[in-house]
Amino acid sequence: MPATVVVGTQWGDEGKGKFTDLVAKEMQMVVRYQGGHNAGHTLVVDGESFKLQLTPSGVLYDHIVPVIGNGVVVDPKVLLAEIDMLNSRGIDTSRLALSGNAHLIFPYHQQLDALHERHLGAGKLGTTKRGIGPTYADKAMRVGIRVQDLLDPKIFRAKLDTALRHTNVVLAKVYNRLPVDADEIAAQYLDEYLPRLQPHINDTVGLIHEGLEAGQGVLFEGAQATFLDLDHGTYPFVTSSNPTAGGVCPGAGVGPKHIDRIIGITKAYVTRVGSGPFPTELFDEVGDYLVDVGHEYGTNTGRKRRCGWFDAVMARFAVRVNSLTEIAITKLDVLDQLETVKVCVGYDHNGEHLKHLPYHQSVLHAVTPIYEELPGWKADISGVEERHDLPREAENYLAFLEEQIGCPIHMVGVGPGRRQFLHFAA
Ligand code: GDP
Ligand code: IMO
Ligand code: MG
Repeated sequence: MPATVVVGTQWGDEGKGKFTDLVAKEMQMVVRYQGGHNAGHTLVVDGESFKLQLTPSGVLYDHIVPVIGNGVVVDPKVLLAEIDMLNSRGIDTSRLALSGNAHLIFPYHQQLDALHERHLGAGKLGTTKRGIGPTYADKAMRVGIRVQDLLDPKIFRAKLDTALRHTNVVLAKVYNRLPVDADEIAAQYLDEYLPRLQPHINDTVGLIHEGLEAGQGVLFEGAQATFLDLDHGTYPFVTSSNPTAGGVCPGAGVGPKHIDRIIGITKAYVTRVGSGPFPTELFDEVGDYLVDVGHEYGTNTGRKRRCGWFDAVMARFAVRVNSLTEIAITKLDVLDQLETVKVCVGYDHNGEHLKHLPYHQSVLHAVTPIYEELPGWKADISGVEERHDLPREAENYLAFLEEQIGCPIHMVGVGPGRRQFLHFAA
């Protein structure tokens, strides 16, 4: 069975967790390939809600091997708390595999994240303050510390000292803060975390390839999303990794030829947390409606999400940069009570009609969305189980989106629950 990728097509929180859980049913392995606990993926099973930050969303199934790949940045404290939470709710986490090559997040990364945000003032990025950026920065600077370093206390300590030689100068001289104590960190990571992490530490590249070679279904679960991608997103208002489907290759250690199903998870409208451009953002009562009815508050940080109409320009870009083979539309039910629904079909820039995303961000900041307005369906679709039971207007909305995006819609979410979705595939 080939490899499948679930990837967010907007600014995150599209419902990747729910659809990963759904697709995982037919898989044997679910792999996170980037990001860290800046992610918050919600699964609702039999009315019970699970919020996952690091553990792959397939963990709820007994038959799945959940894998945290080399491209992920891991805060052991958060991972262990998540394992405890899952165990206390009867979920077996013993199969969880953690890449020895994944980089570790330390408290000083989180401190630097918060300090850097303050330093940016009005230009702040609105990060989750989880230390994601500083950890990836250390990785790129080659002073990062990997999970495997925990297995050799001498190496761990030497690397920690090297990292702190620079970090402590920055903390003291740039931010006027106290230096970090290496002994304290070493005790925490080696004595407290390592004994519990050790059974999970593995060669995940080998594991994934053994699975692929045995014909198993391997599902790669993206965190964040296309427009938060370090290379393709609305830089600098992005995260520090590559959530786009290509990020699977370095982030999990598989070549592109293994991947042939790429599912773009796409909300029926658009949301964003944090700063940055957002052409279809709404500041009116419809925006408030989407926040309220869609419960658009961050899974982790509780921050209110900015909301706006569906943006087909963004969706077309996501199809291109991810090579999407199909789309899953989520949260269609949130639009249930609206009289009309709008879709941004292009951008107007000084009288010019743009069908595709402008590469220059100043242009993106200056565009005005061009909308098509469609009739709403004014009906509760959360209990609909078959496509043919959808109101005609909802079908029309989806058909219009499909035509605009240029990629087939194969699944549609009509509620948060595991069973609240419709199959659209032919
Ligand atoms: P993720 O980060 O992409 O996994 O998404 P989040 O979990 O942060 O946010 C998506 C929210 O929408 C969660 O609360 C989900 O339970 C919920 N959700 C997912 N799909 C649907 C859907 O089709 N309808 C509704 N009403 N809620 C959904
Ligand atoms: P999931 O996987 C939504 C946003 C932050 C900020 C920017 C950079 O749940 O979709 P970071 O802490 O990564 O350096 O913050 O990225 N962000 C997310 N927004 N969903 C997420 O994850 C996000 N992860 C990061 O709000 O704007
Ligand atoms: Mg989320």
